[in-house]
Amino acid sequence: MNELVLIDARSDKAQGDALDMNHGIPFTRSANIWFGSYEDCRGADIIIVTAGAAQRPGESRQDLLVRNAAIFRDIITNVTHYNQEGILLIATNPVDVLSYVTWKIAGWPKERVIGSGTLLDSARLRYLIGNELGVDPRSVHAHVIGEHGDTELPVWSRANIAGVPVELTPDRQDDLFKETRDAAYQIIAAKGATYYAIALALDRICAAILGDEHSVLNVSTYVDGYLGIKDVYLGLPCVIGRWGIERTIDLAPNDEELSLLRHSADVLRDRIKMAMS
Ligand code: 2OP
Repeated sequence: MNELVLIDARSDKAQGDALDMNHGIPFTRSANIWFGSYEDCRGADIIIVTAGAAQRPGESRQDLLVRNAAIFRDIITNVTHYNQEGILLIATNPVDVLSYVTWKIAGWPKERVIGSGTLLDSARLRYLIGNELGVDPRSVHAHVIGEHGDTELPVWSRANIAGVPVELTPDRQDDLFKETRDAAYQIIAAKGATYYAIALALDRICAAILGDEHSVLNVSTYVDGYLGIKDVYLGLPCVIGRWGIERTIDLAPNDEELSLLRHSADVLRDRIKMAMS
């Protein structure tokens, strides 16, 4: 990733961010960063959308729905006017609903419309399990799937370290999962928004795309038939390469996990209906 254009409704903000980021280049790697307009989306490999109204303290991601669906129609129409062949990566909340809205408005193949999904939630859970067990979180394999939000679920039946199942009492599992699920509320109450971990999660997805890595990441993807779940965007482990989502990995959740996943899908489908109406 050596060329980055920042586009913001407040162009002075984009200008300031571009300057600030350029000053970091001597510490990282060569890049060309500037601020621009929708026209600069022309030829972009990836268009990351983070714009939208922010979550207020105590407000759920879904409360943002109506406000952000309207903003999104405008943004996606402008982006796709200049770019038809890139990959749209959505991070604005509620991310699963807005990924679906984007996919519909853009009319692009589902493989090229990706939401940041539960990648961040999975990282939060891996961090907490790693802390608990004294293991580097990068060596912890644990998946949070479904909605990026209140109905998400941890797939404990598959959580492992070096292939060995993670041994935690049900109560401890519950505590760690609640801390994962509610982490954003805690950060928003403290400082208004979350920034750093989501930025690293987006960077990870971009690296997987640009490096054609075929990495498995828990992103929000269009689901049409997986375990009987249809016509919805939600977080699942996906293989990601140069052209976006190559396939979804079947985690084979147990019965309890599957029923939670179905519930998450049902809730999201209702909200998608609301956003599309
Ligand atoms: C997060 O989970 C708010 O969705 C954002 O950090």
